[in-house]
Amino acid sequence: MSSQRSSVTVLGLGLMGSTLARTFLAAGHDVTVWNRTPGRDGALAAAGARSATSAPEAVTTSPLVVVCLLDRAAVHAVLDTLDGGALTGRTVADLTTGTPDESRAVAERVTALGARYLDGKILATPSLVGTAAATLLLSGPEDLVAEHGDVLGAIGTVTSTGDDPGLAALHDLAMLTVMWSVLGGYYHAAELLRSAGVPAADVATTTMQLLPAVAGMLPGEATAIDTASYATDESTIEVNAAGLHHLTRATRELGLRDDIPAALRALADEQLAAGNGGLALASVVDLIRKG
Ligand SMILES: NC(=O)c1ccc[n+]([C@@H]2O[C@H](COP(=O)([O-])OP(=O)(O)OC[C@H]3O[C@@H](n4cnc5c(N)ncnc54)[C@H](OP(=O)(O)O)[C@@H]3O)[C@@H](O)[C@H]2O)c1
Repeated sequence: MSSQRSSVTVLGLGLMGSTLARTFLAAGHDVTVWNRTPGRDGALAAAGARSATSAPEAVTTSPLVVVCLLDRAAVHAVLDTLDGGALTGRTVADLTTGTPDESRAVAERVTALGARYLDGKILATPSLVGTAAATLLLSGPEDLVAEHGDVLGAIGTVTSTGDDPGLAALHDLAMLTVMWSVLGGYYHAAELLRSAGVPAADVATTTMQLLPAVAGMLPGEATAIDTASYATDESTIEVNAAGLHHLTRATRELGLRDDIPAALRALADEQLAAGNGGLALASVVDLIRKG
């Protein structure tokens, strides 16, 4: 959490942007806010934020400009209004979700506008921002992360992902893959068991009991991937493919869609067809890597 009072501008007061502004205010900073559609700043202004009527006006008050908009098209639309030197000498931290290449393009554009650039990705929902459960991935020059890490640290634990402005986005997307895969698996499980009258709450309880065991499997999976050694005396592609077929067949017999387990089944089947049925399931990374 930050210790020194600073000035920070927040562009974008959606669910996340307004949470960020509230968080900076709570950390004791001077906060200026702007949103494309007027009227979303009422509660923030009441809490002490300064409301700006335009993005160029908003950025003039702070050395640090935090951007949190729907997508990168929105970011470029706002940058279009900031090409008159308003950003010169400032730091822009764009926390908008997107792809690594989009982050690199925003970095180039912001640099051309005379500002320095940090790309940030928030690993948290608004209710978790400012708690120990929130992480802020930051990519950009080390000195800039050091300069603004204190203020931005009000959002969550700052983790630096290196100089390349695309890396925070890559780390973010990687962790979102894990999150969506777990949630997708849970949704599928919930629908399977709903057919037997089991409430989703009970499935959540059983899933939470299972997840630590799955987490415990990860170091072994990591070693297999890092060393490309897929010999196994635990569980082969053949066994996993058979299991995935049981799962998708049972799913269809219940009249449900099998899209979620079918994606992994397809990879396991491809390994089987290539004569790799005796390898560990982690060997599917070779197929992912091929593209
Ligand atoms: N919510 C989450 O749980 C969460 C978690 C992590 C990361 N994020 C990321 O945070 C970013 C913002 O998410 P959010 O939940 O705050 O979304 P949101 O509530 O939908 O807010 C979107 C914001 O973008 C602005 N906007 C959209 N198009 C614009 C344009 N062309 N020009 C200027 N402003 C524009 C909206 O302004 P108007 O009010 O004028 O429409 C609004 O301020 C996204 O990239 C999201 O992926 C969100």
